[in-house]
Amino acid sequence: MIQSLAINNLTIFPEATFNFSPQLNVLVGENGSGKSHLLKVVYAVLATSAEEGRKAPTLAPTKNLLQIRLAEKLVAVLRPESLGRLARRKQGRERCEITCLFDNPDLNLSFSFATQSKSEVEIKKLPKHWIEQSPVFLPTRELLTIYPGFVSVYENHYLEFEENWRDTCLLLGSLVLRGPREQRVKNYSPR
Ligand SMILES: Nc1ncnc2c1ncn2[C@@H]1O[C@H](COP(=O)(O)OP(=O)(O)O)[C@@H](O)[C@H]1O
Ligand SMILES: [Mg+2]
Repeated sequence: MIQSLAINNLTIFPEATFNFSPQLNVLVGENGSGKSHLLKVVYAVLATSAEEGRKAPTLAPTKNLLQIRLAEKLVAVLRPESLGRLARRKQGRERCEITCLFDNPDLNLSFSFATQSKSEVEIKKLPKHWIEQSPVFLPTRELLTIYPGFVSVYENHYLEFEENWRDTCLLLGSLVLRGPREQRVKNYSPR
């Protein structure tokens, strides 16, 4: 579980710290106040870790891998022209810094990048493990009617959709697990 997010010089935010409650958190703000950027940054961090963990569960995170994968995911989800565009532009060049703290400190992660960064972030605090559960991003439009074909179209074409849409479509298409979670899932099914 993510406990807090501290950001410096991310797009519209000069400096901000968010302490999250263990269950439901609600972000309220005017258009353009940074709600989507905040959600997407948290999503990109969690999704990068969960994806790498799925690919190679026995390998611990390394700086070399994470500095590239985090940059790629941030660009794929927030879709700036280049990574450095996510660093706040005010007086000259600013460095964007992001720190995520978890209830399990082994997962704590901190990184930064500059306005001229393109394909790598700099890792300041490397987590010891990958996150085990995938985050879920529900976008503003419904995906249930398009998800079956969306992933293959996304993989093979240049589409003006954020990668979190594709990730959610993948999750919508995943098979139901057998086992203890089965009964819990059944309780959500339409009767
Ligand atoms: N590099 C940047 N420097 C400063 N502000 C930026 C930069 N990139 C984007 N922005 C601003 O950040 C804001 C992001 O808002 P957004 O997360 O979409 O808001 P919301 O979801 O709350 O409507 C916009 O106002 C946008 O103009
Ligand atoms: Mg928004």
